[in-house]
Amino acid sequence: MSALFLYRLSIADLRNLTSVDMVPHPRFNVIAGRNGMGKTNLLEAIYLLGALRSFRTATRAELLRHGHQAARVLGIFGGPAAGLRCEVLLSDKSRRIRVDDKALSCVSEHFHRLPMVLFHPATMSLVSSGPETRRRFLDRALFQADPTYPQLFSDYAKALVSRNRLLRGSTLDRRSLVPYDEQLARLGTRLSERRRWLLGRLSPMFEETFCDLSGGLIAKCSLPRDDWHDVEQVMAMLRERYAVDTARGYTTAGPHAQDMDIVFGGQSARRYASQGQQRLLALSLKISEVRALTEATGRIPILLLDDVSSELDRERNQQLFSFLRSAGGQVFITTTHVEHILLYGDRTDYEMKDGRLTGRS
Ligand SMILES: Nc1ncnc2c1ncn2[C@@H]1O[C@H](COP(=O)(O)OP(=O)(O)OP(=O)(O)O)[C@@H](O)[C@H]1O
Ligand SMILES: [Mg+2]
Repeated sequence: MSALFLYRLSIADLRNLTSVDMVPHPRFNVIAGRNGMGKTNLLEAIYLLGALRSFRTATRAELLRHGHQAARVLGIFGGPAAGLRCEVLLSDKSRRIRVDDKALSCVSEHFHRLPMVLFHPATMSLVSSGPETRRRFLDRALFQADPTYPQLFSDYAKALVSRNRLLRGSTLDRRSLVPYDEQLARLGTRLSERRRWLLGRLSPMFEETFCDLSGGLIAKCSLPRDDWHDVEQVMAMLRERYAVDTARGYTTAGPHAQDMDIVFGGQSARRYASQGQQRLLALSLKISEVRALTEATGRIPILLLDDVSSELDRERNQQLFSFLRSAGGQVFITTTHVEHILLYGDRTDYEMKDGRLTGRS
């Protein structure tokens, strides 16, 4: 399996990064620096090349360096995307993406071509936090694993907005909801099917990873038995829920309200697992995401680890690094404490100071 990697990275005026130019190591890149120096900003720039959005903000203007009108990130890739040149140009009015010097035509293919997985401190609460976090985890993985998913996802979201708008309208004639129900049911059953497909790949990997990391314990992840299989049945169910939905002013059931069940020791991990166990479960989920994406895209994704070691105890840290060493692929790791980074060889060390990146010996 070949690994996707960034061969060259240039950043101009993104947050506090005035000008960064780097030729990263194809394996480990360790970026050390004190708080507030720009380490996460660097990962945000890399993530922008793959996901075409930030993982921290939906407001483009926040990404522009204070007092500047535009920002630019350029990546030249190696491995299965050898020579691919991706440029993201941001201003407060627009976002332009150029791939190989042409405007990007197919966003869906892009995600599939440049898979990246981000681990950050909030990732470690994947099990303990609310359902939305787990839905986002699944959707983000699907965006990259399945090139048809981004379009489906956006069509479903639009159908949902239209139906909700109608539910809130003052003169609701039930018959006028039928075409909306039909559309939602059609898109929702396909969306559900895609999530089940992903879980079919992810869950055996999760069970195996967790068993390895925990020294033989058993955990499972699954989607709850949902009824979004058959368009006709879903439409009937939507009709049954008219009263509830109109009273609340939104569609109360569907893939947008779905959660992923994580069961540990036969019980809900969210409710009963200890904090340490929840973190290990979260780590196992992320590792299985990397493995599932590798299989689905045919390439090892780029891994971005933002200050993760500080969230893990010594043993979990060792497990994480042992996975990173065996998984292959390019990794960017930020840290305030370089001694936490348990990697020997195959690495380049950098220092981030006030938005300037320098090599470190
Ligand atoms: N639009 C912007 N223009 C200029 N500077 C910005 C902008 N947005 C954020 N910053 C600055 O970037 C710095 C934070 O960068 P970043 O979050 O990457 O720090 P960090 O090195 O990851 O720190 P920590 O170790 O605390 O996570 C802060 O000093 C912040 O003021
Ligand atoms: Mg940071």
